[in-house]
Amino acid sequence: MGKKFIFSAILVYGTLFLLARAEPVEDKQALLDFVGNIYHSKKLNWDQRTSACSRWTGVTCNHDNSRVIAVRLPAIGFRGKIPTNTLSRLSALQILTLRSNGFSGPFPSELLRLRNLTGLYLHFNNFQGPLPVDFSVWRNLSVLNLSNNGFNGSIPSSISNLTHLTALYLANNSLSGDVPDLNIPSLQLLDLSNNNLTGVVPQSLSRFPSSAFLGNSISLQNSSSPVLSPTSVPKKKHSSKLSEPAILGIVIGSCTVAFVLIALLLIITNRRKKDNESSSATSQKKGKSTKRMVSDNQEGNNRITFFEGCNLVFDLEDLLRASAEVLGKGTFGTTYKAALEDATTVAVKRLREVIVGRKDFEQQMEIVGSIRHENVAPLRAYYYSKDEKLMVYDYYNQGSVSALLHAKRGENRIPLDWEMRLKIAIGSARGIAHIHSQSGGKLVHGNIKASNIFLNSQQYGCVSDLGLATLMSPIAPPIIRTAGYRAPEVTDSRKLSQASDVYSFGVFLLELLTGKSPVHASGGEEVIHLVRWVQSVVREEWTGEVFDIELLRYPNIEEEMVAMLQIGLSCVSRMPEQRPKIADVLKMVEDIRSVNAGNSPSGGTRSPGSTPAVTPYVGEIGSSSAPH
Ligand SMILES: *[C@@H]1O[C@H](CO)[C@@H](O)[C@H](O)[C@H]1NC(C)=O
Ligand SMILES: *[C@@H]1O[C@H](CO)[C@@H](O)[C@H](O)[C@H]1NC(C)=O
Ligand SMILES: *[C@@H]1O[C@H](CO)[C@@H](O)[C@H](O)[C@H]1NC(C)=O
Ligand SMILES: *[C@@H]1O[C@H](CO)[C@@H](O)[C@H](O)[C@H]1NC(C)=O
Ligand SMILES: *[C@@H]1O[C@H](CO)[C@@H](O)[C@H](O)[C@H]1NC(C)=O
Ligand SMILES: *[C@@H]1O[C@H](CO)[C@@H](O)[C@H](O)[C@H]1NC(C)=O
Ligand SMILES: *[C@@H]1O[C@H](CO)[C@@H](O)[C@H](O)[C@H]1NC(C)=O
Ligand SMILES: *[C@@H]1O[C@H](CO)[C@@H](O)[C@H](O)[C@H]1NC(C)=O
Repeated sequence: MGKKFIFSAILVYGTLFLLARAEPVEDKQALLDFVGNIYHSKKLNWDQRTSACSRWTGVTCNHDNSRVIAVRLPAIGFRGKIPTNTLSRLSALQILTLRSNGFSGPFPSELLRLRNLTGLYLHFNNFQGPLPVDFSVWRNLSVLNLSNNGFNGSIPSSISNLTHLTALYLANNSLSGDVPDLNIPSLQLLDLSNNNLTGVVPQSLSRFPSSAFLGNSISLQNSSSPVLSPTSVPKKKHSSKLSEPAILGIVIGSCTVAFVLIALLLIITNRRKKDNESSSATSQKKGKSTKRMVSDNQEGNNRITFFEGCNLVFDLEDLLRASAEVLGKGTFGTTYKAALEDATTVAVKRLREVIVGRKDFEQQMEIVGSIRHENVAPLRAYYYSKDEKLMVYDYYNQGSVSALLHAKRGENRIPLDWEMRLKIAIGSARGIAHIHSQSGGKLVHGNIKASNIFLNSQQYGCVSDLGLATLMSPIAPPIIRTAGYRAPEVTDSRKLSQASDVYSFGVFLLELLTGKSPVHASGGEEVIHLVRWVQSVVREEWTGEVFDIELLRYPNIEEEMVAMLQIGLSCVSRMPEQRPKIADVLKMVEDIRSVNAGNSPSGGTRSPGSTPAVTPYVGEIGSSSAPH
C-alpha cells in the first residue's frame, strides 16, 4: 500500500513536472516550416515562443507533451501545395484534418510516412491526380476522407489492406474503373458517390446502401445472380395475389429487394407443390395447433419447423401472399415484415452468407426456439434448405431500441424518457441473464446491440437474434456490423463468450445514456467510438457531459444515470475477466432505482454511501471519487 502510494506520488509529480517543461521541439519546428511556406488567409497564433501544446490552434500533443499527435486545421484558407518535408516529419501524428481549404497538387504521398495515422481528412480541397498505389503502410488508418477533390484514376485495391478502416469517403471525385473488392470487416461508413466508377458492386460491399454508389455507372446488383434472374422464377398456376407478370415486372425492375423474399418463396412453394400436389395448403393449416409441428411434407428439404407455444397459423403459401417490407439489414441477413392475411404480422429473417450444415443449424434452432422468457424475443419457426434459411419471429411494432433512440431527432419526436430507458436496460439484462443460464450456463448471445433489442408488451427490453453468431464459420466476416459493440478480444466468432456479451451490453447501456451510436461520424469531422469517448470524458471528470440532452429535462435522475454509467463502464473493461457476470450486472441495474428509492422523489437529497451495488466497480472507471 505504502509503496503504491509513493509510486503514485512520483507519477503525479513527474507528470506535473513534465507538463510544465516538455515541448515537442522537433514537431514544433516541422509545424512552423509548414505554416511558413504556405499561403493562408486566416492568421494562426503559432508563435515560436509559446507552447505549441497548450497554445497553438489546432495542435494536440500526447500526454507528456513530447509529440504532436493531432493537427486540425479546417478552413484556414490555405492555398497551394503542402510544403514538402514538413507535416511528414510529425511521425507520431494520428489525426490530420486539412478539410475545407484550397490545397492543390497531387495526393500528398509523403504523408504515407506517418505510420501511426488513424484519421486523414482532406475533403473539400483541390487535390488532383491519382491516389497512391500502396495504402497498406497505413496499418492503423481508421478514417479516410478524400471526398470533394479532383482525384482521378482507379481506387487502389491496396485499401483492402487497411484492416482498421471504419470510414471511407471518396465521393465527388473523378475516380474511374471498377470498385475493388474491399473485404474490410471493420468498414462501417462508405461513400463512393459521384465519381466515374463502373462495373458491379462487389459482394463485399453489398451491405452498404445504394446511396453509397450513386452518381456512377455501377450496377447495384449482380445480374447473373440466380435469385434475381427472371428465368429462374417458375410458372405459377393459380392462387397468388400478385399476378405472375406483376412479380416478374417487380423482380426485373429496379426496386427488387423487398420482393426478393416473395420471389424466393414462390420458387420454394412451387417446387413443393409439384412434388406433392395433393397436400393442399389449407388442410395443413387446419392441422396446426399450439403443438410443435412440422408442415406435413415428406420432402425433408422444404418444411417450416414451428416451435411449441406458437399459435401462428401460416405456411409458406401464406408468407408468399403476404406483402413483405424490408425492416432492416442486419449482421446475418435482411429482415422483412410480412403481413399475413389473418392480420397477424411476423418478422422474417432471411439469413445470408450463412454457411452452416443442416444438423448444426437445426440443433442451434432447437436451443434458441426452446427459450421462452418475457425478455427474450421468441423464435416461432424456421426454415432450412441448402440455399435458403429463414427464421420467423414476432413482429414488434414499436421497432428496435436503436430506432427509438436514433430516429429523427427534433420534429414530433417522442423522446425515450428515463423511465423507459431504465426498463429497457432492466429487461434486456434479464433476457441476457436468462440466455446465459441456458445450455448448462454456456449459451452465448453473440450479437447484442440496440437494433436487436425491442420492447415487450410491458415496455421492458426484450432481446432478439441470439445464438446466431456462434453458428457462423469462424473465418466468415459476419461480426463486422457489430464493430462498435464488439469486445476487443473478439477477433473472430470463436472468441465470442459470455464476457464479450457483457461488453456489448455495456456499450448498449452507454448508448442508452448518451443517445449516441457506438460508432458515428460527428459533425463532418471524425468518427467517434462511443466507449473511448465516454471513458475520456469521464477521465476528464466532465461526467455530466456524456448524458443525452434529451434526458437533461427530467429532474432528480442524475444519481441514477451516474449509477448506470458506472455499470456500463465496468462492463466495457478491456480485460474480459475484469467484467462482471451478467447476473451481477442485472442485480446492479435492478438496484439503480432502489439506490434512490430511499430519497424523497421531490427533494433530490443526496445520501452519500447509498450506492452499495456499484461501489466495487468505481475503481475501474478511473473516477477520482474513491481515493483508495
Ligand atoms: C505510434 O504509436 C504507438 C502507440 O501509441 C507508440 O508506441 C509509438 O511510439 C508511435 N510511433 C511513433 C513513431 O511515434
Ligand atoms: C498502430 O498499430 C500497431 C500494431 O497494430 C500498434 O502497436 C500501435 O500501437 C498502433 N498505433 C496507434 C497510434 O494506435
Ligand atoms: C487525371 O487527371 C490529369 C489531369 O488533372 C490527367 O493528366 C490524367 O490523364 C488523368 N488520369 C486519368 C487516369 O484520368
Ligand atoms: C497488402 O499488403 C501485402 C503486404 O504488405 C502486399 O503483399 C499485398 O500486395 C497488399 N495487397 C494489396 C491488395 O495491395
Ligand atoms: C457532392 O457534391 C454535390 C454537389 O455539389 C453535393 O450536393 C453533395 O453533398 C456532395 N457529396 C458529398 C458526400 O460531399
Ligand atoms: C467517365 O468514363 C468514361 C469512360 O471511361 C469517359 O468517356 C468519360 O469521359 C468519363 N467522364 C468523366 C466525367 O470523367
Ligand atoms: C455474380 O454472381 C455470380 C453467380 O452467383 C457469381 O459467380 C459472380 O462472382 C458474381 N459477381 C460478383 C461481382 O459478385
Ligand atoms: C467526409 O466528407 C464529407 C463531405 O465531403 C462529409 O459529409 C462527411 O461527414 C465526412 N465524413 C467524415 C467521417 O469525416
